[in-house]
Amino acid sequence: MRVLIVMAMHAEAEPVVRELGLKPVETPPWAAPVPMRLWRGQIGANEVDLVVNGQDPETGLDLIGTQAATASTMLGCEAFKPDLVVSAGTCGGFAKRDGSIGKVYLATDRVWYHDRRVPIPGFEQMARGGYPVADFSEVGSRLGLEPGVVSTGDSLDLSAEDSERIEEVDAHAKEMEAAAVAWVAGLFGAQFTALKSVTDIVDGPHPPEEEFFENLKQATENLAANVVGFVNELGVRT
Ligand code: ADE
Repeated sequence: MRVLIVMAMHAEAEPVVRELGLKPVETPPWAAPVPMRLWRGQIGANEVDLVVNGQDPETGLDLIGTQAATASTMLGCEAFKPDLVVSAGTCGGFAKRDGSIGKVYLATDRVWYHDRRVPIPGFEQMARGGYPVADFSEVGSRLGLEPGVVSTGDSLDLSAEDSERIEEVDAHAKEMEAAAVAWVAGLFGAQFTALKSVTDIVDGPHPPEEEFFENLKQATENLAANVVGFVNELGVRT
């Protein structure tokens, strides 16, 4: 199996590159203007590749959100022709659904958008996403991962409208990339799943921008351990 991991932030990706022993791959000439970066590796019988967004040329900050996730996944799919695409990163969790800092969710069911509203028949359905997630529940339970519904939007805060959409699908993980990654994976005929590690509690007392940086180290350590565990378990299965 060829597995492509898609990650937004350098801090999230660095321990995964190190622990999996991935090697940098040159970006193809057609993609020279984009800041995304590629790595390749082999874990057991599986090829394991990685694409990371890179930095915004204006601010020098890591690119985040669905726009960069779309370009990254397109580049990774074109470069590596994966069978499975994994969106790996951080998320906000929900106390009312037993979310806690550092918990890692394995996506289940479908992945949704919560911030795209187009009240025109057909377009509304397209805006909601609802892209299928492959069933890796056996691998997930061997690793002790929590199954969770993932919902995607381009804002760190939570508007009343976004909250309504999140409640409609009982989302466990609020994050900024998965649905975009899933859409591109589907176009390329690849399966999709996501691993999301909680940095902040959306329905807790603290603003997400404070909790995010306080808990980023713990969340990225847990994420890396579970990304590595996940690809190793896939090796066991094949
Ligand atoms: N990534 C980490 N925490 C998040 C949140 N609360 N909302 C969106 N993306 C996130």
